[in-house]
Order: sequence, then C-alpha cells, then structure tokens
Amino acid sequence: ASQNTANIVWHSGSVTREQRATRGMTLWFTGLSGSGKSTVAVEVERRLVASGQPAYVLDGDNLRHGLNSGLGFSPADRAENVRRVAEVARLMADAGVVAIVSLVSPYRADRDAARALHDADGLSFLEVFMDTPLEIAEARDPKGLYAKARTGEIPEFTGISAPYEAPLRPELLLRPTDGDAGALAEIVIDHLERR
Ligand code: PPS
Repeated sequence: ASQNTANIVWHSGSVTREQRATRGMTLWFTGLSGSGKSTVAVEVERRLVASGQPAYVLDGDNLRHGLNSGLGFSPADRAENVRRVAEVARLMADAGVVAIVSLVSPYRADRDAARALHDADGLSFLEVFMDTPLEIAEARDPKGLYAKARTGEIPEFTGISAPYEAPLRPELLLRPTDGDAGALAEIVIDHLERR
C-alpha cells in the first residue's frame, strides 16, 4: 500500500480525542468458527450501548458481504481481511466508539499487526480469546460448515484444514465453561471497567 501514498499528504483535524464525547478502543475477539465470538460480542455491544458508551460490532461474516466481499480464506486474503477490519476499528476507536471485532483471525502475525496499528495511534487494543475447543465448536456446528469441511467441500477451513494459532498473551481468555454468553459478556465488561 505504501507505494501509493508517495504524493499523499496527511491532513490533520483540530478536534482532540479529549474533546470528543466518549473514549474509544478496540476489543478484538478471535477464535474458531462456532466458538461463540459473535454471540458474546453482540452481548457486550448491547450492554455498552445501554450504559451510554457508543459501541459497534464488526463481524467477519457480515463484513464479507460488503467491505470485504471478494476476499476468500487463503492466508493472504485473511491477512487483507484482518488488515481492513483493523483499519476500520482504529478509525472507530479514534472517533470515540468501542469497536468490537469478531473475526476468526487465525494468524498471530495478522492480529499482532492489528494491535501494532492501534499502538502506533495510542489507542487501546484488547485481544479476547474465545478458547472454545474444536470438539465443542464442531459439535455445535451452527451453520453446518464443519460437516462440509470434513468432506472437503469447504477447503482451508480453520481448525480442520487450515491452522488456528492461539494467542500467546491475550488480555482476556474466555471458555464456554465460564458461563453463558451473558456471563462471558459480564467478564469482558468487568475487565473494561477495571481498566
Ligand atoms: S478470517 O479468518 O478472520 O478472515 O475469517 P472471518 O472473516 O472471521 O470469517 C469467518 C466466517 O466465515 C465462515 N467460513 C470460514 N471460516 C473459516 N475458514 C473457512 N475456510 C471458512 N469458510 C467460511 C465461517 O462461518 C466463519 O464464521 P464464524 O462467525 O467465525 O463462525
């Protein structure tokens, strides 16, 4: 991307972050398909908005219908998917919104790049690992995708025929045994309030 910015000059605004009504940040949910990321993300969003804090879920499945249509599931396409969503989340966080990202984002390097983008801009980035074992996610199989992945109908499926690199030091680790979606969302909100 950088070779396209040779003749592009950054134009700064005059509104500081402190002058905005609310403080933003990015909550980055990562985990297998069917791990429960989106369910918890939506519940966290609901609670934040109810408390007066603007929040917005950026869901992988949904964004692939628009912003990221045309991207597949090769390592390069997933990297581009994560990069675009990280850029959108950063803008939202800068604008005072809690961006709640829900992406499989299976590669550590891609997630680290998303974090670095926020760090460089002085914005908080919290990695939330939905540590649901493959056996449980596959048993749930809410969209029937694992069954298709097992027969080879879906190639490069995370956990089956493509890798998932678990976070080494996530700020939060959630397990299905920690409770239902409401209880897991509560753990996330508690963590945010303590910060
Ligand atoms: S990624 O890896 O971050 O780019 O993926 P993401 O944008 O989150 O999209 C994952 C959802 O797409 C469905 N799906 C697949 N997932 C993993 N691997 C393959 N090959 C694949 N093909 C389709 C799947 O339903 C994921 O949705 P969630 O909500 O995670 O279950």
